[in-house]
Formats: sequence, C-alpha cells, structure tokens
Amino acid sequence: MSMLTRRRLLSRAALSATAGAAGAGPRTGALATAVAATAGSLAAGCGTGSDPDTDPTDRPRGERRFPTGFGWGAATSAYQIEGAAKEDGRGESVWDTFSHTPGRTRNGDTGDVAADHYHRYADDLDLMRDLGLRSYRFSISWPRIQADGTGTVNQRGLDFYRRLVDGLHERGISPMATLFHWDLPQALQDAGGWENRDTAYRFAEYAEAVFRGLGDQVPAWLTINEPKTVVQNGYLSGHHAPGFQDPQAAYLVAHHLQLAHGLAVRALRATGDAGRIGPALNLHPCYPADDSPEATRAAHLYDGYENRLYLDPVFKGSYPADVLADLGADSRLARGVADGDLEIISSPVDLLAVQYYTPYYVTGDGGTVMRWPTSQADWQQIYPDGMYDTLTRVTRDYGPIPLTVTENGLPQADTLSADGTVDDAGRISFLRDHLAAAHRAISDGVPLESYHVWSLLDNFEWAEGYDQRWGLVYVDYPTQRRVLKRSAHWYREVIRSNGL
Ligand code: FCB
Repeated sequence: MSMLTRRRLLSRAALSATAGAAGAGPRTGALATAVAATAGSLAAGCGTGSDPDTDPTDRPRGERRFPTGFGWGAATSAYQIEGAAKEDGRGESVWDTFSHTPGRTRNGDTGDVAADHYHRYADDLDLMRDLGLRSYRFSISWPRIQADGTGTVNQRGLDFYRRLVDGLHERGISPMATLFHWDLPQALQDAGGWENRDTAYRFAEYAEAVFRGLGDQVPAWLTINEPKTVVQNGYLSGHHAPGFQDPQAAYLVAHHLQLAHGLAVRALRATGDAGRIGPALNLHPCYPADDSPEATRAAHLYDGYENRLYLDPVFKGSYPADVLADLGADSRLARGVADGDLEIISSPVDLLAVQYYTPYYVTGDGGTVMRWPTSQADWQQIYPDGMYDTLTRVTRDYGPIPLTVTENGLPQADTLSADGTVDDAGRISFLRDHLAAAHRAISDGVPLESYHVWSLLDNFEWAEGYDQRWGLVYVDYPTQRRVLKRSAHWYREVIRSNGL
C-alpha cells in the first residue's frame, strides 16, 4: 500500500494539528462555457465576501437573486434526530452498537433520544413551515423498515415516514429522502456489513420496499449518504461505526456502497415511479499546498481518493486509474469488481447531491495542511470559494447534471441566553458567504436547483455527540424545547426574498 494511502489513516489527526502552514493553492476560474438551461434569470453582480463590519442580520440587500423556484431547504438524518431507538419495531443499527460502546463517542453520547423528532415531528414540520422551507432533506432509517435488514417490511416504521411526507406536502414543502445515512442494521454488520457484497443486494431490496411504500409522494431520492465517510471514518480511521482500521477492506466497502447505489437506481426505475434519484457525495477541492511539482502530483492523487473515486464510477463507468494503481493491482477493490458492476453503478441518475464543508491543501508527501480559519469542527476550514470551485468543477468535468447542495454548514458552541435568544452571528456569515459562492456558480452556468443547510436542528453529531451544534434551530436537550437561532430568522428572510 502506497505512502498516500497509509497517510490517509491519519488524515483527521494531521488536519487538526497543522493549522495555518500552507501557501495559496490554485484557483479554478469561471466555467469556460456557460452551461445551457440554467433555470430562471439571475441578477447581475457577484459581489465579494462578507464585510465583517456590517451587521450580519442585515436584511437581504437584493444584490443576488436566485432562480425563480430555487429550492431553499434544510437537512437532517434519522439517527441524528429521531431518537425512539426501540420503538415500533425498530431494530438495532451499527450506530446503536457503536455509540453504546464505551469510549467511542464524546461523553458516551448516543442517539437513543437525540432531538426526539420521532415524537415531535409534527411540531418540527410546523417549524419548517414557519421558516418558509421549500425542500426538506431527511433520511429513512433502514432498521425501522427492516429490523434485521432483510425480509418483511415493518409497517409501523414505514407509517412514520408516510406521516412525515404527508405533513411536508400539507405544508407545501418538497420531500427529499436519503435511503442510507449510515445506520446499517446491526444484523447485516454481523454478516460482514459493507465488506460483504450481499449487503448491496439487501440494500436494493430495502430500497424497493421504500419506493413501494412512499414512491408516489417523494419526488427526489438520494441513495447513499457520503460513501467516502463510511470508507474513511468507518474503515480507515475507525472513529465512526463500525470502527475498523483496515485499508484493504475500506476500498472494497467503497465498491459495495457504490454497487448498492446503482442497484437502488435500477430498483426505482423498475417501479415505474416518476421520482428522481442520485448519489449524495461530500466533495472536497484538493489544492496543492505549494507550487512544487510534488505537491501538484500529490494533490491530484488526493483528489482521486476524495472525489474521483466516487464521481467517476457513477458518471463515467470506471474507477480512476491513478487510484487503482496507487492501491495496487491486487487490491481488494480491484479484485472485488465483478463483470457488469460498473454498468450497474453508472446507471443514469437524475441529479447529483453535493455536500461541501472544507477544502484540502496537499503537501508533496501526501499530507495536508490548514490554511483558513476553522470552526468548532477541527477538520473544517472556512473557505466559501471552495463551494464555487466544487460546483463549477463538477459541471465542467461531469456535464450539466442537475445539482443540489444537500449539506453545508458549521458547528458552534451555541448557548441559549437569559432572554431566550441564540446569537449565532458566525453561522450567518458562513451561510451568506457560501450562498454567495453558490450564486456565483449559478451565474456562471452551473445548474444548481436547491440548497440545504446542515442542519435544521441541533443533533447527535456522530463521534462528537451533542457538543457540536449545527442547527438553525437550537435544541434544549433536557426539555427538547426548540428555539430559532438568529441564523434561522436570517435564513427565513433569505428565503422570503429569494436571495441575498
Ligand atoms: C456530514 C454528515 C452529516 C453531518 C455533517 C456535519 O458528513 O453527512 O450527517 O454529520 O457531516
């Protein structure tokens, strides 16, 4: 295994330990040719980043109008908000096991109760309506639908999502459902999890059951949330479930996750439903940390592991040659690709969901350095131009596939003040600057249809437990009371005026 691959095992630690060392990376320019058919008309004027001296709660100035009908949204996932871990026939997932294993999560936090959304979904729907959301991205918990990941469908689990989806429609909000946001049924993990090729086929059966139960009401589906995070955090660093450190297994898992994606796309088509479907990928622009040829080469390979490994199979029907070569001809990934798999994985999709949080700056030896201010999440660098670079790059390299941003946001240690407000001005600056970057990408021809803040609610942030608050809405966990943060009020105005 190559040096770069080995270094990736330590990448999170390296990221948090090397702040502020790198030089400027190259910057992607505007798209050379505008992509046809960008929806609606845009006001001219791209503007610059935010002015730290102005009040961040300024009403939108009307400088950047988004296309008519733009899908303003917010996102969540099942295990992070639902709670009700043992109710209505829900089985155990790998995250139940992992979070209940001592030492795995901060403070030993679990998703047993989380934001109690399973019981409070109706109030949460009202909050979404009050914010003016047009789109809500949530995930379906596989172990609620099939407790052990196979066989009979648990109708009570399906009914919960039916009530949720109906409630969205009643409030004029468009549902966008993710089929897998990391909560693999534990029984499937016990049978080998994503290392086992069969899991991809079990996923397709589960997906088909969900399509049959909800397909008439869900216009947009996302298959697998961030396969890369399962690979890197679940099987390289091990700080996510299932908690392994096994590079050879990791990239076989990457293949099976993508096979599962392709099989689910085919399962949806087989139902004849009109719903759209696509993958949800966290993409990271990878810039050389300096102008040496070594850094340029290393950044290109890093991009292979971060981005092309997940984009190329879906949109080009092949794995990137440089990554395959780096893994070695005899890797479990290379050996795990059966005839016909890449045809399945590259089944045509209707949209690509992009999740953008941070860029990487890559040094000549394949390590990374920090260049921009970080947030409460030590892996995050706040770099809004990275959003522009990511969106334009996808359109340039993979064609004018409709795009949705399904995650973008930052965590803060938000507090509820005595007067009952939560002042998260930093989040407003972050969102405004990233939305400005998204607007600039649209102006340059990127077919971006919608944008979802991560997250609607404060929630269980995986290994970080409840310390990091990512929501527009503050959750007071002891009482489960919801309080709109200052950013939520700001976002409501953005939505109302359809721009910044
Ligand atoms: C993404 C995950 C999401 C949340 C955000 C902060 O990688 O998809 O569940 O944890 O990061």
